[in-house]
Amino acid sequence: MNIPRRVNIVEVGPRDGLQNEKTVLTPAQRADLAMRLAGCGLRRIEAGSFVAEKMVPQMAGSAEVFARLKNNSARFSALVPNMRGLEDALRAGVGEVAVFAAASETFSQKNINCSIAESIQRFTQVARAAHDNGAAVRGYISCIAGCPYEGGVKTATVADLAARLVDIGCGEVSLGDTIGVGTVPVVQEAVYAAAKMVDASQLAVHFHDTRGQALVNIRAALEAGVATVDSAVAGLGGCPFAPGAAGNAATEDVVYMLHGMDVATGVDLHPLVDTAWHVSRLLKRAPASRTAHAMAAPTHAGTVQT
Ligand code: HMG
Ligand code: MG
Repeated sequence: MNIPRRVNIVEVGPRDGLQNEKTVLTPAQRADLAMRLAGCGLRRIEAGSFVAEKMVPQMAGSAEVFARLKNNSARFSALVPNMRGLEDALRAGVGEVAVFAAASETFSQKNINCSIAESIQRFTQVARAAHDNGAAVRGYISCIAGCPYEGGVKTATVADLAARLVDIGCGEVSLGDTIGVGTVPVVQEAVYAAAKMVDASQLAVHFHDTRGQALVNIRAALEAGVATVDSAVAGLGGCPFAPGAAGNAATEDVVYMLHGMDVATGVDLHPLVDTAWHVSRLLKRAPASRTAHAMAAPTHAGTVQT
């Protein structure tokens, strides 16, 4: 079995994790969260999004978040849906942006108010302008395993979109099971199909954990050659336009699993668990991850890997 010896984690907690929460954190709290995560050894952190405020009020003030991020070895990125978002992000000093397409027409309309084809046109312009300004570009594909409005999606659509996103200049494509409906065969089929069109080293996976499949699906993606995994501290996350979806795979669960498999992440699990509890207290809820609960126990019973 061909599991990579090192996995790059893209921490999406400050963006995906907070964009659907009832309790809205201030830009100062969001920046503090991103800095704490950087302090845990996370090197890629999605710290905000430059989207329409009326659609996602939780992400308002992302320019202030970025202004508060001090230079350190982490790379902070932001989601942008259009040229307006890119211009705002560049003005805020963002060095990596992510565009987001979907494998479902209805989800594309609900999420970004345009068809898949129109979104690719927009992103072509966004990617070109981002590169002209020295910014890296990542692309997401949502609904790779199913859509909350249409049900099943075609693997060929996922694979074609992955190729299109790389063609327009995305250095990496993250395959999103937005509603956490995929099982191992479904996500492996999507990953293998995408990996026929683009190099597996350019793929990442982004699994919401609605049905408890995220960890096993991540492992299945690693077997298929993926070495970049998105996750969110405390298992936060959700999309306002994906009703019923649970949070992302929890970063601390992913790190615990990977270290147990002798796969390096560069992440320090203990401060990460502290950060999971810290943000959960701010949000007035308990962490969704098993690891955060297990390691909060007085004896850390059963913690064999850190
Ligand atoms: P629209 O209504 O078609 O846009 O929305 P518009 O160009 O007609 O503008 C409407 C209003 O929005 C105008 O303001 C614009 O100025 C403003 P008004 O005149 O009404 O006052 N506007 C903006 N404001 C701030 N930043 C911008 C921006 N653009 C326009 N960039 C649009 C189109 C794409 C803007 C909108 O649909 C939108 O913002 N969508 C974002 C939705 C979103 O953030 N979804 C969650 C993230 S995706 C996700 O979570 C999935 C992912 O995690 C992967 C996975 O799990 O699968 C990535
Ligand atoms: Mg997501």
